[in-house]
Amino acid sequence: MNFLLLSPDTTISSASPAALFSPGRGLSNAPYPLPASAGISRIRTSWPALARLFLSSSTLDAIDTSPLLTRRAWLGLAWGAFSAASAAALAATGRFMFPNVLNEPPQQFKAGFPNEYGMGVDERWKEKYAIWLVRTPEDIEQHASGFYALISVCTHLGCTPNYLSAENKFKCPCHGSGFRTTGVNFEGPAPRPLERARIVLADDGQILVDKSRKFQRELGQWADPEAFLKA
Ligand code: FES
Repeated sequence: MNFLLLSPDTTISSASPAALFSPGRGLSNAPYPLPASAGISRIRTSWPALARLFLSSSTLDAIDTSPLLTRRAWLGLAWGAFSAASAAALAATGRFMFPNVLNEPPQQFKAGFPNEYGMGVDERWKEKYAIWLVRTPEDIEQHASGFYALISVCTHLGCTPNYLSAENKFKCPCHGSGFRTTGVNFEGPAPRPLERARIVLADDGQILVDKSRKFQRELGQWADPEAFLKA
């Protein structure tokens, strides 16, 4: 086996790498034996000279005996990893420039003219505004004919109930709560009636629903004049 033998008493600044690696130049008192490429047996040099030697890429390739990757490949790999980490950090920073925005529908909307509605539950606003508009000949609270706006959020855990026209009731698919078309709960775990939203007549004669104001029956709020639109 050949070894590269190093000693601190010689410099290589004036010598070519080929001359340094010529067979037979080294002495036997070198403290650090290193594997050398074929044809090189011994070398005497100093540590600064050794450093200069290692800075020369062509020389590096010549003496690199790594069984898996050359130094050049390792360097490329390191730069690649560094670039990827920098790009990820940059992307994470840029993400702060675009915060999550929840685009909720407006709380107020015009629902058309009263004469556009028949008696019973109207579902045209459920998907967009989570509202059932109900027209009744006799409200249980206001004892008059007119409209109320039921909010389609279950008072148990917030699921969206379905209107079952055949049974004339709202049924929650999550845990089975049932509500009458008035909004009053009568089966399942829901602890209280559905809430009603403010409903008034706008200046142009259309029905105006305002979800920012809610009315709860258990608090006596369904008797509020704005919880029901007489018509
Ligand atoms: S969320 Fe409606 S019954 Fe549970």
